[in-house]
Amino acid sequence: MCGIVGIVSNQPVSNRLVEGLTRLEYRGYDSAGIAVVNGQGIVRRRSPGKIINLQHVLDDAPIEGTCGIAHTRWATHGKPNMENAHPHQAGNVAIVHNGIIENFKILREELAREGHVFATQTDSEVIAHLIQHHLDKGMDEESAFLACFERLEGAYAVAALVGKDNQTLYAARHGSPLVVGFGTGEMFVGSDAFALAPFTKRVLYLEEGDSAVVKIDDVCVRDKSGQVVTREILTASISAVMAEKGNYRHFMEKEIHEQPEALARTMAAYMDQETDLPSLGNAAPLLKNADRLVAIACGTAYLAASVGKYWFEGLAGVHVETDIASEFRYRTPALPQNGTALFISQSGETADTLAAMRYCNRANLGTIGVLNAPESSIARETNAVMRTLAGPEIGVASTKAFTAQLAVLAMSAIGTAQLRGHMSEDEARTHVKALEQLPELAQKALTVKDQCEAIAPILAGAKQTFFIGRGVYYPLALEGALKLKEVTYLPAEGYAAGELKHGPIALIEDGTPVVVIAPSDKLLEKTISSVEEVAARGAKIIAITDEAGAEQFKDRTEHIIVLPDMPGLCGPIISAIPLQLLAYYTAHKLGTNMDQPRNLAKSVTVE
Ligand code: M6R
Repeated sequence: MCGIVGIVSNQPVSNRLVEGLTRLEYRGYDSAGIAVVNGQGIVRRRSPGKIINLQHVLDDAPIEGTCGIAHTRWATHGKPNMENAHPHQAGNVAIVHNGIIENFKILREELAREGHVFATQTDSEVIAHLIQHHLDKGMDEESAFLACFERLEGAYAVAALVGKDNQTLYAARHGSPLVVGFGTGEMFVGSDAFALAPFTKRVLYLEEGDSAVVKIDDVCVRDKSGQVVTREILTASISAVMAEKGNYRHFMEKEIHEQPEALARTMAAYMDQETDLPSLGNAAPLLKNADRLVAIACGTAYLAASVGKYWFEGLAGVHVETDIASEFRYRTPALPQNGTALFISQSGETADTLAAMRYCNRANLGTIGVLNAPESSIARETNAVMRTLAGPEIGVASTKAFTAQLAVLAMSAIGTAQLRGHMSEDEARTHVKALEQLPELAQKALTVKDQCEAIAPILAGAKQTFFIGRGVYYPLALEGALKLKEVTYLPAEGYAAGELKHGPIALIEDGTPVVVIAPSDKLLEKTISSVEEVAARGAKIIAITDEAGAEQFKDRTEHIIVLPDMPGLCGPIISAIPLQLLAYYTAHKLGTNMDQPRNLAKSVTVE
């Protein structure tokens, strides 16, 4: 999950390479670098850390050329230092790579025996040496580039400068996304259309196994068999301006506050204005007729799937299995004959989710992507796409994407229940009416932000924090803990409230914060019993509840975050907001970079 940009132009490209790279920093920020071809051949500048460091290097030692490649790295093989920063160079070849070359050790040994000297510990460097090896054998540039992929195993998106030619970029993809952008008198390659948005919206998505020879005004694409193919040129929907911070200090803060609009847009997309019932588009038959559903995702998206399971089973009576994508793909799952698989993903590029989707496609399941990125790999390969209209999410922490995923799953569960005759139209309308209040409820929920900021020092000073919930609030407890860990680096655990007594309660000490997510529902009494158990052992209770629930908590803690009453399925969606705010303000208190937490990347396009 690194970011790649390439430009071939009549004009100097360095500044724009860095600009494009800045828009890919969400993919990784361990190191950054650019390479251009000019009269002296290939020249590189690289730096460990963020793109701003690369910019400083370029300010001190500018380079110019009209053809270049750039990279921002999320380290997999080799430390995140200068030496391992891309682009990697071997003779007259420079490459940038996103993915993992699984057989790099064997290739490296082979090439070393032939005299190639390696300068890095990365798997990627072998690509540059392989291409140079083919040039040394007398192949022309394109053949040398293409021949290299015959030997590579694993996943890659690669952009390369080959030879002394400053009129051509070479690109290829297998398992990692890559787009080609069409400008006027210049062409681009990028990890996604978002990186190219300041330059062009006209893009072509390379398909699995495609390679491309990109010239100033043209591109020649070949498929995996080497045949020249035509790929459709599309207009990317993403706009450059949507990714600014505006008046907010951080993207995470901005994106938390965008939830009312994100929910309004998403809800509008799934409402049939004539019938007031859910409108599920071409996902409807796949949901209506499936014997069983499988919901597969990673991280926060997996927790959205886990909430969805309660809704689909509770309302539609359809059996749902949830799976973490990285587990699903290697455990030989027993799949239903007539099943439908849902893949939930903000980016639509998460490598494990993508691989799980391909597995289900091969197994002839119906496949539905619940996706925020409409042009992503998963979007292009599933039978049906249900979009979350959260808008671009730049902060690494999933916030508005999560609540938008929940809104889509809620509408889908209601629609499925009604389509399968498990729910009357009137009942379905009542549920939809409740969900229509989401934007307003989200707006009200945001008013607890000062309270969350006031509670943040408790979490910031704690050795560890527990999040507990029951029923549909259990996945929310997991999400609260994930969010806190991710942006503050503090230990946090999420548990089903009733499970605490089976082990984790041993960790409760005097003053241990326990965040309880418990709006009033039929399980509130039970959750209160768990609260009593931890309070008796010294836990400091922080309750997230509604007016009715607050009554139950008032003698048990002074820290009660009161949300508005949340009808129907709104509860888990709105309850996510104070969890996000608690994580945000705790990170702010500790001074961590919550938009780009250490070791993480927004889009995980490697296994
Ligand atoms: O793009 P995806 O939704 O597929 O990403 C899945 C996870 O990597 C993601 O939700 C991750 O857990 C978030 N950073 C959590 O906030």
